[in-house]
Amino acid sequence: MATKREETHFGFETVPLADKQGLVDDVFHSVARRYDLMNDLMSGGLHRAWKDALVTAVNPPTKGRPGRLESDRAFALLDLAGGTGDVAFRVVEAGGPGTRVTVCDINAEMLAVGRERAMERGCDDVVTFEQGNAEELPYPDRSFDCVTIAFGIRNVPRIERALSEAYRVLRIGGRFLCLEFSSVDLPGLDKLYELYSFQVIPRIGEAVTGDREAYKYLVESIRKFPKPKAFAQMIQKAGFRRVSFTPMTGGVVALHSGWRL
Ligand SMILES: C[S@@+](CC[C@H](N)C(=O)[O-])C[C@H]1O[C@@H](n2cnc3c(N)ncnc32)[C@H](O)[C@@H]1O
Repeated sequence: MATKREETHFGFETVPLADKQGLVDDVFHSVARRYDLMNDLMSGGLHRAWKDALVTAVNPPTKGRPGRLESDRAFALLDLAGGTGDVAFRVVEAGGPGTRVTVCDINAEMLAVGRERAMERGCDDVVTFEQGNAEELPYPDRSFDCVTIAFGIRNVPRIERALSEAYRVLRIGGRFLCLEFSSVDLPGLDKLYELYSFQVIPRIGEAVTGDREAYKYLVESIRKFPKPKAFAQMIQKAGFRRVSFTPMTGGVVALHSGWRL
């Protein structure tokens, strides 16, 4: 007897669950070399402020500031779906000399761009890039002080698995932080955002990367992602406690947080 095959969404399309990761990989393979430029163009530079808010929440051991001692306490952060290393570089820049970041991403092309950027910045000794699937992490239990994922979780086919894996590799007392596009519910801004997302972003994507479909997927995948309260419940279900979220920029993005206690 034939069993019903599992399905999911890839943007607004319905696809077999087993096919989604390959389709996502094609998107990031295609845009990797222009990915960082596109982030600036699409968000008008706002993604920098959102990532800064994430790094503030990570709160790595202090880098010496006037009147404060630099902390050399060891701090290991795992940045899941970390792509070209943007979050990782911000964390090591903010943290003291004991801060180390592992960027784990499934896409070799995104990681290659990240490694080049790390060499250029001279931080390749404290940021390492490793290929891995967020659904099946190649790390031992309780091996990180903090786990982050920025604009990555909505691309992962089995979100529940990625959340359980983040929980497993986090030490007791460690924090999980997830930055993701969310749902705009400010009257006026919602219409403008809709227009910008569906009419402008795919066109910028086409002009800059030559791949309109990739940016159509990115926009559609945002609409298919669970609302922030529903996503917070998924985080709670994975075992995290003191789960909360903070909407930013009228709900364009939300910063989700949970602790392993
Ligand atoms: C929108 S990019 C975000 C990159 C980076 N975090 C940032 O904020 O600039 C999404 C990333 O998720 C990665 N990704 C997709 N599925 C993944 C999976 N199953 N495991 C790990 N990474 C994945 C992609 O390869 C891509 O680099």
